[in-house]
Amino acid sequence: MHITIAPDEHAAGRIAATLIGAQLLQKPESVLGLATGETPLPTYAELVRMHQDGIVSFGRATTFNLDEYVGLPPGHEQSYHTFMWRHLFSRVNIDPAHTHLPEGCAADMPAACKAYDAAIEAAGGIDLQLLGIGHNGHIGFNEPGETLDQGTHLADLAPTTIQANRRFFADEAQVPRQAITMGMGGIMQARRVLLVACGAGKADIVAALVTGLITTTVPASLLRLHRDAHILVDEDAARKLG
Ligand code: PGA
Repeated sequence: MHITIAPDEHAAGRIAATLIGAQLLQKPESVLGLATGETPLPTYAELVRMHQDGIVSFGRATTFNLDEYVGLPPGHEQSYHTFMWRHLFSRVNIDPAHTHLPEGCAADMPAACKAYDAAIEAAGGIDLQLLGIGHNGHIGFNEPGETLDQGTHLADLAPTTIQANRRFFADEAQVPRQAITMGMGGIMQARRVLLVACGAGKADIVAALVTGLITTTVPASLLRLHRDAHILVDEDAARKLG
């Protein structure tokens, strides 16, 4: 596992965007795994700037997002579809047909999950997966527990995740309780993984990820078994690394 410590979240975003941009320069038809949340915002802003400057093209790229809330239609203000279109897809030259997010309103969830994994496989697998990390160690919505799922699946959000996501909704009752998420197997199959964590609030979980046990109670710790995982943190999130 490779660790980079950036001075602050903006520098971390520039570094992450540089790595993603380099991936696209090296392989324009790259399959990117993308994430939502607060962490990747500086990364997407920088990718948009790099695109505007003619450095990066998404013209031949394909993307698969990690997750989507169950019950929120794509046009919902807080859906991850809306997030991705607002912050990245509408601002770069990506072919909309090449962008993929799990279907939060699928009539047949198990079939939709299977189809998502099949689509990733048909695209040739994920070249570079961008990840954030929850305070509880989740990646995507793979929440801590005794077991973890391999493929894309319907997941119950942990109470702490509902609390953490409450800030995006008018009240806690409106926070979806379930999501469709890529599984740990899908994430581990990505050829490269880039996990970004910023802020003092992430310092404990970053320390657990980097120096603690490999355990299903910290799902991100499984990344220690990945052959090309890059952990990119800012100084605040790195505070508890020895
Ligand atoms: P955040 O979320 O980027 O908003 O901190 C990360 C996550 O929960 O995976």
